[in-house]
Amino acid sequence: MCGITACVTAAADRGDDGDVVDVLLGGLRNLEYRGYDSAGVATTAGDGVTVVKREGGIDELAEAVGVVEPTGRAGVGHTRWSTHGAPTDANAHPHTDCANRVAVVHNGIIENYQSLREELAADGHSFTSETDTEVVPHLVAEALADGATPDGALRAAADRLEGSFALAMVVRGHDAVYAARQGSPLVVGVADGRRFLASDVPSFLQHTRDVVYLEDGDVVRATGDGHEVTDRSGRPVDRPVESVDWQAEDAERDGFDHYMLKEIHEQPAALERAVNGRVSADGDVHLEDFPPGSFADVSDVQFVACGTSYHASLYARQLLAERGVPAQVFSAGEYATTPAPVDEDTLVVAVTQSGETADTLQSVRRAAADGARTLAVTNVVGSTAARECDDALFIRAGPEIGVAATKTFSSQVAALSLLVERLTGDVTGTAGEHRDDLLRALDRLPSDVQQILDQSGPAGLADRFRDREGHFFIGRGVGFPVALEGALKFKEITYEHAEGFAAGELKHGPLALVTPDTPVFAVFTGRHDEKTLHNVEEVQSRGAEVVGIASEASADVAATVDEFLPIPDTHPAAAGVLANVQLQLVSYHVADLLGRSIDKPRNLAKSVTVE
Ligand code: F6R
Repeated sequence: MCGITACVTAAADRGDDGDVVDVLLGGLRNLEYRGYDSAGVATTAGDGVTVVKREGGIDELAEAVGVVEPTGRAGVGHTRWSTHGAPTDANAHPHTDCANRVAVVHNGIIENYQSLREELAADGHSFTSETDTEVVPHLVAEALADGATPDGALRAAADRLEGSFALAMVVRGHDAVYAARQGSPLVVGVADGRRFLASDVPSFLQHTRDVVYLEDGDVVRATGDGHEVTDRSGRPVDRPVESVDWQAEDAERDGFDHYMLKEIHEQPAALERAVNGRVSADGDVHLEDFPPGSFADVSDVQFVACGTSYHASLYARQLLAERGVPAQVFSAGEYATTPAPVDEDTLVVAVTQSGETADTLQSVRRAAADGARTLAVTNVVGSTAARECDDALFIRAGPEIGVAATKTFSSQVAALSLLVERLTGDVTGTAGEHRDDLLRALDRLPSDVQQILDQSGPAGLADRFRDREGHFFIGRGVGFPVALEGALKFKEITYEHAEGFAAGELKHGPLALVTPDTPVFAVFTGRHDEKTLHNVEEVQSRGAEVVGIASEASADVAATVDEFLPIPDTHPAAAGVLANVQLQLVSYHVADLLGRSIDKPRNLAKSVTVE
């Protein structure tokens, strides 16, 4: 949802030219998953600010940069996912003031931009875009004209803004980058003789793993020699430098055609990390910050999440229900405006890969304000969710670049399964009769997933499902969220119609849509498979072809369905993760055959930081 990046170097002192343009382009490429409809950079050198921006992706921008040849030791860059104004050259960031003295990039939404724009226009400012962002350089220019320093001017501008923003700017004549954060993510990268700023760490991961996570209200002035963080009144604030354990290679494509395929193949390693050290040899769960008894006071569990994370939450709710612990799952977009009642014994679990999804953050803020205890289950250590919630459980999947979530779903389910174990033990006082089997199945998940990846099942099927009227996905128990997730992945990257249903729900309406031209993907987990087989027969009798995803030992399923995608035989609670890997591969191969933009599907962005 828009990516911003910035870099400043102290190279003049070190004898090289310290030009940041290539670093900015590289930083933007690493952030393209956040937005890809237009992009731009601005640098400051000597007495000028040079802006190059284009509709399209980073390749189009790089072409334009090759023509204009901007240079500078300080610069900002942006890759956009449009909210205000179409993806045009004019609406692309950076935006400047009338005198081209200030160039600003922005992620977020400025809610009061209309009134600010009218006020600035009345004072003689002219605007060249339809964006909310463009008011910012004009506000900064006003403050500079009143004698403010650049960081003081940014503070003055930020004070006038309502909404959410991460802003980065360069100012003519200053070899520095200035930035402010309010409600949208922003991190500083610290390297010898260089500072980076970005919406997300992968932007500069090849240069440094030392980062400073900024907080709302922070304003930064960074030069090649250092950086200062102040609050909105200009008082210095101390933000520690932390080291992230992601490697630069984690954010590279590594010979795969797409990040999505690479990330599907990373699932064995990601699952290993999610579970590693969290289950002891004697079969006990060890969740670092959650010793036994951590959840003894919990009387009510509410999950809040969006998209794939919502499906992982449904999966966890099912596991809890099977253990006799009731829980509710809310779509965060709904919860943010219509929250469920909570009290201090309510545990609100925000499941969010990025830790930055605006609806999810808004939901936990509301719940916390009403007294609930909050827990983030996230992939990103310094994310807003991790920092704002009372506690955090990390899924340890490593950076996920493909917009469609794959490995993080598996890792979320693995981490949530362990959380379910801890919660169940604490809330019911019993370990649950099948716990050992489940923990063994979790331990085996990496090799079970590897077994699926070593086969080529879905690749051979793709051609059959490329031009159909619709695609249905059904499942029950944990197979139901997997069916929803299978359909989400399919529609997201193939752009073909797909819907997921609880298997038993089909006959209550959706069956009217089933024809010989609507293949049905049926997920079997080993629990109540006979009922799902009835549902399969229902759709087959309407002429639909059925692809069954079930244990390799399920002779009944194999004999009934039209195509069979086997998964290793395992505990039903883990079978959903395995079935989901098969469905990820189906979606990937169909999308590939259709020539879709798999890593950056149209209209989507990875981190949805606006409500
Ligand atoms: C789908 C997908 C999205 C995200 C959703 C929530 O493939 O990636 O549906 O799951 O936007 O994002 P996080 O988990 O970052 O809160």
